[in-house]
Amino acid sequence: MARPLKTLLITSVAVVSCLGSVMTNPTVAQADRQDVGSLRFQAPIDLKVGTALSPAPLSQDRSYADFAASQFNSITPENEMKWETIHPAQTVYNFSPAETIVSFASAHGQMVRGHTLLWHSQNPAWVTQAAWTCEEARAVLQDHITTVVGHFRGEIYQWDVANEIFHDPWDQGGVRLRIDQNPFLRACAEDPVALIEDAFRWAHEADPGAVLFLNDYNVEGINAKSDAYYALAQQMLADGVPLGGFGLQAHLGLQYGFDTSLQDNMKRFDALGLQTSITEADVRMPTYGQDNPSEEQLAEQAARYGALLQACLDVPGCHSFTVWGFSDRYSWVPGTFAGQDWATITSRDGSLKPAYWTLLDLLTNATPGRSPRHDMGHWR
Ligand code: G3I
Repeated sequence: MARPLKTLLITSVAVVSCLGSVMTNPTVAQADRQDVGSLRFQAPIDLKVGTALSPAPLSQDRSYADFAASQFNSITPENEMKWETIHPAQTVYNFSPAETIVSFASAHGQMVRGHTLLWHSQNPAWVTQAAWTCEEARAVLQDHITTVVGHFRGEIYQWDVANEIFHDPWDQGGVRLRIDQNPFLRACAEDPVALIEDAFRWAHEADPGAVLFLNDYNVEGINAKSDAYYALAQQMLADGVPLGGFGLQAHLGLQYGFDTSLQDNMKRFDALGLQTSITEADVRMPTYGQDNPSEEQLAEQAARYGALLQACLDVPGCHSFTVWGFSDRYSWVPGTFAGQDWATITSRDGSLKPAYWTLLDLLTNATPGRSPRHDMGHWR
């Protein structure tokens, strides 16, 4: 990538000052807005460009907050809507951390993706250690969904209702529902699909305006796991369940191949009448003991990010593209994968990586005059 790296500080200050003038002066010409070097201002009007966000750096790191505000128009709370945080005891709901994120989004004209309501991970002990009958599990889940979705009613445009409910093909037993790991599916193992379907119905009752998603990783290409979701989605739609979208997390690694069936996969869900979204994009890489990524690694990473965004741009019902954090300083990757790092679009020192410029260029080229990508009839 020939373009020089610019520092995050310089860019964010410049963008924030431009944003300030756009916000306070509604007569600012459209052309002026296009001069703003910002993902959110270059995005088509029918595509939200988002990031996962955490409250701690938001309050401690000015450049983090400025970049989040200036570059994105969609926010996903990285951990704050998960059960262990938002529902730590059966009779206790703790909305404050999530509200910090939602308030930030609201203050900066950003939409919010809710994440997540039914998952096998990051559950509190009172959930993981429960020995429920199915009836009891249903009551607990219904209370949670009704309370949490209801609390944020009107503030969330997409909810990840069911997250990572299928095993990977290489797990013991192959692709199957995570009845062994998800406490709710386990309690209702006789008919787990009925529980999943009701989770969507309860969420829809609590906020009819939110689009409700199935969401998972390793479902980017057409494979056994995405096939399982495709079959489940068909069944849910046939059963009249208010399923609205399929989320592809897209946690990629340079050490693995890139499945070029991504776009065809998204299109088959699109053809069911569902939205699709890239919900948690990042591209990690082996560090090989180096202090910094090589130029080649950065170029490959940029190509992967670009392929993810391009697939979304090319599929009419893909209305959100979210990166799972935007700074290597705060990424979940090095803490989870030993010897892997540098997964996001900006470096620890705040410099913008080639991946950032690739995303910006794709968005800019996709939207001359900030037009929608497709007939707005697709905005469903
Ligand atoms: O909150 C505690 C803190 O009190 C403690 O001091 C610290 C010490 O390790 O841990 C903190 O909890 C961590 C939590 O993130 C909040 O920062 C957990 O250890 C850590 O395991 C947890 O990781 C999160 C992970 O989900 C858990 O599965 C990551 O931040 C988050 O990015 C990641 O996100 C998931 C998506 O929700 C679903 N798809 C996959 C994605 C990546 O794993």
